[in-house]
Amino acid sequence: MARPVKSIHGEWTSRWAFILAATGSAVGLGNIWKFPYVTGENGGGAFVLVYLLCIAAIGIPVMMAEVLIGRRGRQNPINSLKSLAEEEGRSRLWRWLGGMGVLAGFFILSYYSVIAGQSMAYIPRTLFGVFEGVTPDGASSIHTALVSDPERLLAWHTLFMLITAAVVTRGVQRGLEKSVRVLMPALFILLVMLVGYAANTGEAFTRGVHFLFDADFSKLTANSVLIAMGHAFFTLSLGMGAIMVYGSYLPRKTSIFKVSVTISIMDTGVALLAGLAIFPLVFANGMEPGAGPSLIFETLPIAFGHMPGGEFFGALFFLLLVFAAWSSGISLVEPIVAWMVENHNLSRRNATMLATSVIWLLGLLTVFSFNIGQDWTLFGKTAFGLLDYLTANIMLPLGGLLIALFAGWMMKKSSTAEELAIGNGVLYYFWLILIRFVSPVAILIVFANLTGLLDILNK
Ligand code: PFF
Repeated sequence: MARPVKSIHGEWTSRWAFILAATGSAVGLGNIWKFPYVTGENGGGAFVLVYLLCIAAIGIPVMMAEVLIGRRGRQNPINSLKSLAEEEGRSRLWRWLGGMGVLAGFFILSYYSVIAGQSMAYIPRTLFGVFEGVTPDGASSIHTALVSDPERLLAWHTLFMLITAAVVTRGVQRGLEKSVRVLMPALFILLVMLVGYAANTGEAFTRGVHFLFDADFSKLTANSVLIAMGHAFFTLSLGMGAIMVYGSYLPRKTSIFKVSVTISIMDTGVALLAGLAIFPLVFANGMEPGAGPSLIFETLPIAFGHMPGGEFFGALFFLLLVFAAWSSGISLVEPIVAWMVENHNLSRRNATMLATSVIWLLGLLTVFSFNIGQDWTLFGKTAFGLLDYLTANIMLPLGGLLIALFAGWMMKKSSTAEELAIGNGVLYYFWLILIRFVSPVAILIVFANLTGLLDILNK
């Protein structure tokens, strides 16, 4: 199958349009909701260090690989992998790697949308002063009241799926480019303001900084290393084809190296700022860093409830968080829709409707796992916990491993060098070593460590 010169879905108007869209995909609930709570649950500094190492040694090289595969293939991940495999004389079975990504997109968005829905529900709550002067217990019971009501959660989940579908139907470039240009910088400024507020908590701020950056390795377990690695994939939107499909709309001339580094730095910056804003509040109010997925919904309202103009800033913050989740949600459906349009001859509109309806339905599992289905557990996890663990900690790293193997070992050096266009010098070989050896070996070690394989070998 010959690969097209240009994607049938169009192209980004500039390098910055791609950077913004891919940053829009990367920056989302993963940075502001998930990073603080997984860091809290896994003991702080040492976890953060492993996460940062994973971003640098695995995340950036795999992101470059995804963009290069997407841009060279110029189609949805399944077809891009299939035509590149054929071109390189490899098995067409590689297309199943794209298939796993499409499936991961369904799973992730189904719970992502429910959490984004909760953030939406917080916009009117903050705006109308529900949190004014609130105590930690008060904030906690307001959140519990929301999640224990399946109808309300369902309504917000539905609204989030609808706005996501609305943009995807229009086509990612037209729908997305404009909004991300303004919203990302605004979110960044508001986060800096929140860190400024947290800095006024005095001793609690120092405790927050120590919690984030002092590495105490005794707190690190095999499972928390896996979670740190999984989170690096999740936060950079890697391992499932989202960045690959955005790469397929990237103009030829753009430097893949520069864009990947820029996106990763921005994404990591937002996560660290979120941590710096949230942990001081946790300590100042005598709360638990390991509170789990409800962490931001219980800490930030306390800050907004006590600062001057908190209604306004709070509502604005949750609004921007919803926008950040929105631009990530869009990138989760795009590979699925591009595949349905290219392979199944559906119109963009019908493909979007079909995909989002299935995801909406799957989302019911997460909606119920906070209330009536709290006790429906498998391996000790609720449906939400299971979907999150399966996707972030298994499917994305496995996808990343296979992408690294494909780009590093299945594609000819001449092909990858041509696409990366960083010359044949040190930088290219640095990438090649990372993608051929460092990333795959690191991912395999983390998996082996988790399954206890390393302990067996040690005996
Ligand atoms: N990177 C997004 C976040 O941090 O919120 C989540 C995400 C988007 C994961 C797209 C995977 C993906 F393909």
